[in-house]
Amino acid sequence: MPLVDRFSRRHNYLRIAVTDRCNLRCVYCMPAQGIEWKPRAEILTLEEILRIAQILTEEGVSKIRLTGGEPTVRANLCWLIRELAQLDGLQTLAMTTNGITLTEHAAALKAAGLHRLNISLDTLRRERFQDITMRDGLHRVLAGIDAALKAGFELIKLNVVIINGLNDDECFDFVEFVRARPLHIRFIEFMPFPGNNWSRNQYLPWRQLLERLSARYDLMPTDASDTSVARGFAIPGYAGTVSFISPLSEEFCANCNRLRLTADGSIKSCLLYPAELNLREQLRAGVGDEGLLKLIQTALNEKHFAHPQECALPALENRCMSHIGG
Ligand code: GTP
Ligand code: 5AD
Ligand code: SF4
Repeated sequence: MPLVDRFSRRHNYLRIAVTDRCNLRCVYCMPAQGIEWKPRAEILTLEEILRIAQILTEEGVSKIRLTGGEPTVRANLCWLIRELAQLDGLQTLAMTTNGITLTEHAAALKAAGLHRLNISLDTLRRERFQDITMRDGLHRVLAGIDAALKAGFELIKLNVVIINGLNDDECFDFVEFVRARPLHIRFIEFMPFPGNNWSRNQYLPWRQLLERLSARYDLMPTDASDTSVARGFAIPGYAGTVSFISPLSEEFCANCNRLRLTADGSIKSCLLYPAELNLREQLRAGVGDEGLLKLIQTALNEKHFAHPQECALPALENRCMSHIGG
């Protein structure tokens, strides 16, 4: 059966990195010495991306998420969104963004057919934002969140990567941030990627954070009908919700339904394994849909059941997170 791996997992969620470029320099995402952007010729055109998305939706992909780098820095992104939104079988079209440009783009993204937005925000303090992202941009992200709400996005999630000793002291502030705003906070365990200086004592297992929050709040588990990997909780009287993503302390690989297409045209079957298969040359050599699908299936056939143990992850030769897009 197409898009099924050796462990009978059906892959119906495609994450597309539309660019490797970003307008922030988050310390947990990019190596400190910076990274080289890929030459333009190595980046898939929007038409090439659309073709792969079309082939995959015909094979059962029903959810697509646009990522980057920062997806909104890609020119003509709204054209791609309009085209993707019309694909038969696509039920959810989402994007993960750092929010910096949302004041300019939120309304146009919504009008083009984007359904959902996840916005990354790791601190509510201006100076700390600058320390984490190397840019003075907190006010822009906050205004971007308001713009997204105003544009009418129904489900807006805020991704907060918790780094022990860096921003874990803000966990209560984030909960208060969603007291009156209908936003969904997701605290994410900090994962190791090449060059991001991960260390074991910087990651806070989700149950410890839950315990901390439970001392102050009445956290009520929400129905897990959403296909998200997050565990959700509501708080009586709060407009928003809080959830936890635990890739390290309790990985969710057994139900993995994700395929990734990198900006330079590789199919990456797992976020945390280096394995990938590049489609670009074949794509540009005029290979047919069947041939492309075969290549994608080959990549999928090599997918492991789960990512390596936490202790083995820092030594893996993966791409850095900003090139994968999460
Ligand atoms: P929803 O579709 O709204 O559930 O979003 P998502 O969680 O699939 O996507 P998002 O881009 O918001 O990713 C949130 C975080 O989840 C990322 O920062 C990663 O830390 C983590 N994550 C996403 N996909 C994977 C995955 O396949 N494996 C692991 N281990 N972690 C992942
Ligand atoms: N660990 C966990 N999440 C990460 N992200 C980026 N780097 C890491 C990391 N090292 C998150 C971003 C973004 C999502 C796509 O990935 O916060 O929201
Ligand atoms: Fe899927 Fe790999 Fe993420 Fe596990 S780590 S959920 S196998 S992509």
